[in-house]
Amino acid sequence: MQSEENDMVILTDRNALRAWVAQQRSSGHTLGFVPTMGALHAGHLHLVDQSRAHTDRTVVSIFVNPTQFGPGEDFDRYPRIPDQDQRLLRQGGCHALFYPDVATIYPEGFQTTVRVEPLGSDLCGRERPGHFQGVATVVTVLLNLVKADKAFFGLKDYQQFVIIRQLVRDLSMDVAIEGVPTVREEDGLAMSSRNRYLSIEDRRRATAISAGLAAARTAFMAGEREAGRLEAIARRIMVEAGIHRIQYISVRSASTLLPMKTIDSEGVILTAVKVGSTRLIDNMLLM
Ligand code: PAJ
Repeated sequence: MQSEENDMVILTDRNALRAWVAQQRSSGHTLGFVPTMGALHAGHLHLVDQSRAHTDRTVVSIFVNPTQFGPGEDFDRYPRIPDQDQRLLRQGGCHALFYPDVATIYPEGFQTTVRVEPLGSDLCGRERPGHFQGVATVVTVLLNLVKADKAFFGLKDYQQFVIIRQLVRDLSMDVAIEGVPTVREEDGLAMSSRNRYLSIEDRRRATAISAGLAAARTAFMAGEREAGRLEAIARRIMVEAGIHRIQYISVRSASTLLPMKTIDSEGVILTAVKVGSTRLIDNMLLM
C-alpha cells in the first residue's frame, strides 16, 4: 500500500505533535497510541494492528527512556535502529511517529516522579529499583502529550500493564488502557528486543521459560490450584534446561498482582530469569 507507506509523519517536538493531534481531533478522528522504545518486532507491530483496528489514527512513540534503566543496565547498548523501525511502522500503517530526544521529554528543570506503590517495588521492581518510577513517569508525560482515546500495552510486560492501568485510574487520566496478548516466536519464546543478545545456545535454553510456564498452565487446567506446586513445575523445567539464575517465579492475582496461595480467582504466573547476561521476563494467565 504505497500511499499509506508515504503517509506517516515524523514528529520530534512537542509543538509539532500538539498541532498534529489537534488537526486529527478537529477532523473528528479517534486516536490510538502505542508507546515503545524502538527496535521493533512483531510484538510491537501487533500493538499497532490493534490500535488501527480500534481507532482512526495511530501514533507510535519511540523513546529509549533513560530514567527506567538502572546503573549497570543496558541503556547505552539498548538497540537503536531508527531506519528499520520507520520502515516497519510505514508498512504497518502507523500514521504518526513521535520520536523525541531526551530534552523534549525531560526539559531542563524537570522535577516530577510518578510512583505507583507498593505495586512498583514488587516482582521486577525488587530486582530493578526505580525502574517502574521511570516507566510511570515517562508514560504519564507521553499520555498527556498524545491525549489518545486508547493506549495499547503488551501483556508481555504484565506488571507494567497493571501499573499503568493503576496510575491512569489514580490520576483520573482520560484514556482507555488496552492490554494486548503476548506475541511469541514459533518455539514459544516471547518476542523481545533483548532476544537478539542471546547466544545460539542461550537462545535454545530460553525456550524453557515459556515451556515451564506452559507446563504450569497445563497443570492448572487439569485442576492444580496450589501456587507453590505450579511454581515448582515451572521452575523444574527451567532448571533442567540449565536456567539457574531465576529471579522469581510467582503466581499472583491477575487483577492486583497480590500473592495467591491457592488460586480462587483469575491468576497469572510470572517469571524473570537471566540467561547469559540477558534478563528475560514472561508470564501466562491462569484462567
Ligand atoms: P518496549 O519494551 O519497547 O515495549 C513497547 C510495548 O510493546 C510494551 O507495551 C510491551 O509490553 C509491548 N511488547 C513487547 N514485546 C511484546 C510481545 N512479545 N508481545 C506483545 N507486546 C509486546 O515497554 C516499553 O517499551 C517501555 O517500558 C515503555 C512502555 C515504552 C515506556 O518507556
